[in-house]
Amino acid sequence: MYRIKTFNKIAPAGLGRFDPARYAVSEQETAEEGILVRSADLLDYSFPPSLLAISRAGAGVNNIPLDRCSEAGIAVFSTPGANANAVKEMVLCAMLMSSRDVPGAIRWVREKAASGVDVSTVVEKGKAAFVGPEIYRKTMGVIGLGAIGSLVSNIALNMGMDVYGYDPFLSVDAALRLDRHVHVVKDIHELYRKADYITVHIHFTEKTKHMIDAQAISNMKPGVRLINLARGGIVDDDALLPALDAGQVTAYVTDFPTNRLVASPHVIAMPHLGASTPESEQNCAVMAADELKDYLENGNIRNSVNLPAVAMERSGVMRLCIIHKNIPAMLANITTLLSRDGVNVENLSNKSKGNYAYTMVDLGEKVNASVVSDLQNLTNVIRVRVIE
Ligand code: MLT
Repeated sequence: MYRIKTFNKIAPAGLGRFDPARYAVSEQETAEEGILVRSADLLDYSFPPSLLAISRAGAGVNNIPLDRCSEAGIAVFSTPGANANAVKEMVLCAMLMSSRDVPGAIRWVREKAASGVDVSTVVEKGKAAFVGPEIYRKTMGVIGLGAIGSLVSNIALNMGMDVYGYDPFLSVDAALRLDRHVHVVKDIHELYRKADYITVHIHFTEKTKHMIDAQAISNMKPGVRLINLARGGIVDDDALLPALDAGQVTAYVTDFPTNRLVASPHVIAMPHLGASTPESEQNCAVMAADELKDYLENGNIRNSVNLPAVAMERSGVMRLCIIHKNIPAMLANITTLLSRDGVNVENLSNKSKGNYAYTMVDLGEKVNASVVSDLQNLTNVIRVRVIE
């Protein structure tokens, strides 16, 4: 029986993926093998030694201590693409709201009515304060062309916009999803110079923290409208607020509000709503559950953020899953140890990601416990798991 501890409310469709005969899934589990989480902060969570994997129903993983997980041999999964359509639709909404001041206009009508004015007599005159441009034939800049950024680029093209995209890590999959009319630029300054609207779709890391800083903003086209439904820390608020006051940035739409931001009349701030649709919550929960199950039951790794993608059909009678450091001779050390005991390897896969690597070995016969503990004791092996 595997124990899965849930943090946050996970959509029932995701919980339904776990066979109750094999899994106990609840918020109360202790000594858990797996964690399912949405946005709960696990940065200071003390992981039990039993924990093998954390699956995040969502794209961002800044609520999970990745380095600590890697060092402890805990695989971390996310669900790229599962909420992309929901975010794409919200970006569209953000573009329209930032063009004509729709939130300001709604507020104004309510305030007039609340103050006893017959709104029907003032709206025609009052509407002038909320006028703004159409997005048709304007230029959109998309920073980050992953699952969300590529959908945003394509919908912007469909709305009649000219689209510039920037992504130094553009994957083949993402490139294939991208409409061929999107101008993919190598120099972000080209995007800054041309875009009337800029939206960011990148992960928040030490490297992307304050990527949109005073320098970046000063390189943007005057009057640009900026959208950030990715993570608050990507934009440096200290640089943004004076740029909004000066009109260098006309409007900032974000779902990562702070009190300082909300005080600016040029900021449209809302709760973290980008992915909040029933469809997206269901997609994320199902994908997160499936990734976790496949890892626990088969050792297969798909969409991990700290370990390489490795998946094999089951063969042989016993599978060894070994997380180790990505250094020379590890594979040789592992296979030497297995051949010392005359064990036949049916199938093997070894891949690396950054400082870590994963070796999965299907064996033609069962090995005894001493082989497993010898493997575990190899220098630079982090975790060995046996799946039968
Ligand atoms: C994500 O990271 O997937 C989105 O920002 C939504 C979320 O955090 O749940």
